[in-house]
Amino acid sequence: MTTPGDTRPTDAPRLEDGEEIGDVIVSESDLQRRIAELGAAITADYAGRPPLLVGVLKGAFMFMSDLSRAIALPSEVDFMAVSSYGSATRTSGVVRIVKDLDVDLVDRHVLVVEDIVDSGLTLSYLQRYLLARQPASLEVCALLVKEGQQRTALDLRYVGFTIPADFVIGYGLDVAERYRNLPAIYDYRGPKS
Ligand code: IMP
Ligand code: MG
Repeated sequence: MTTPGDTRPTDAPRLEDGEEIGDVIVSESDLQRRIAELGAAITADYAGRPPLLVGVLKGAFMFMSDLSRAIALPSEVDFMAVSSYGSATRTSGVVRIVKDLDVDLVDRHVLVVEDIVDSGLTLSYLQRYLLARQPASLEVCALLVKEGQQRTALDLRYVGFTIPADFVIGYGLDVAERYRNLPAIYDYRGPKS
């Protein structure tokens, strides 16, 4: 709720550690416009084949929320949580399933909803894991793909934006669990020393 004394601008990040937040990489309006396009494409492609949207937590929670509302079809939503071993900003490709799906995939049209594809190792592992459960089809919708970083061949049916290979935050993406609630995608500047 806004109170009469609250005069902060609504379009600017307003978090205490704002100096870590760099340039806008994808604005809120560009995100929303592109998600509407992705939703329309998915709606057309999946007519008569209700999709099961599988979100990869935590990063994809916000994208899943907006994308699912942009798909004008009967659909279901489920989530998986994975954690990849590696440093804070680099994956090793070894993935641990922290939360598995609740539903059976046999004969389902599964659409994996991912926040960002960097090396592609996480997604590649997930695709193999999900395919073993015999879905009728398996496709991927990734909001962001980092240009030139993929270390494995991936078939990405839907991509929101291709971005430079820098670390980004916001719109579900974090650094050490922070900044997920920013409404746009920002460059991460690193802690001020
Ligand atoms: P990949 O296995 O290298 O493709 O990494 C994929 C996962 O690493 C994503 O699903 C994110 O959770 C995380 N990740 C990769 N790049 C970024 C980034 O720039 N910001 C935040 N998280 C990222
Ligand atoms: Mg992710």
